[in-house]
Amino acid sequence: MEVSLHGLLVGVGVAGCCVLRGAGVWSGGCVVSVYGILDSPYLGCCSLYDHHHPTGARPFDGRCWDDPETHRLLIGWASETFDGWALCASSPSLETLLPMMPSGYRIGPWVKPFAAYKPNVNPGYCWEPVIFHGWRTGRSRDEATVRDFVSANITLRRGFTGAKPAEFTAWVLDFLGVEPGDEVEDVFHGSGAVALAIDAYFGRVAHPDDSLFGAAS
Ligand SMILES: C[S@@+](CC[C@H](N)C(=O)[O-])C[C@H]1O[C@@H](n2cnc3c(N)ncnc32)[C@H](O)[C@@H]1O
Repeated sequence: MEVSLHGLLVGVGVAGCCVLRGAGVWSGGCVVSVYGILDSPYLGCCSLYDHHHPTGARPFDGRCWDDPETHRLLIGWASETFDGWALCASSPSLETLLPMMPSGYRIGPWVKPFAAYKPNVNPGYCWEPVIFHGWRTGRSRDEATVRDFVSANITLRRGFTGAKPAEFTAWVLDFLGVEPGDEVEDVFHGSGAVALAIDAYFGRVAHPDDSLFGAAS
């Protein structure tokens, strides 16, 4: 059975469960959502990636991440593309990024008990904000409450600045309320650590070695 809701196609499954995706695509079973993890170079940190910002069709493609406008374009694109998203950021960038946010966002800190210290930087930067928008609501009372922070060590020896530990990615997916059948896009592949952790979360691959000196794959 199909009905129209706000111009989108909605299917009513055999169990009477509405099945709706952001783009109006539907499938049998439960509600399917599409989420994005946005781990772009942080504002002012594009040189950490040798200003590697490939061209493409998305509004932020080919643009430098030291320009606040690039981040504004990413936030706008993500809000149109995904049902929900999580944006990784640095604490100094919040002053610039927060005025760009759509209403209804939440910030969850990634606290790093083991972090990289820099000479003459005191206090050290030992946490990073993750900005969430459009997480799944209406969870049942039986579901465990997800914390709005995570404590996880940075990874070493992965040969890639900013590679995220698998525990971090699992927390992001828990926060968003990702369920089996949902789609999750790792928008900025980098080392591939986030994509690998997404696959592990869905049980498609073994859980990655998340120890301090563990390899990414
Ligand atoms: C913070 S890193 C991603 C780290 C990754 N999540 C991980 O765990 O390894 C950001 C990456 O995005 C890349 N990048 C920059 N602009 C891009 C674009 N328009 N499309 C895809 N990747 C881009 C950078 O070159 C860099 O490799």
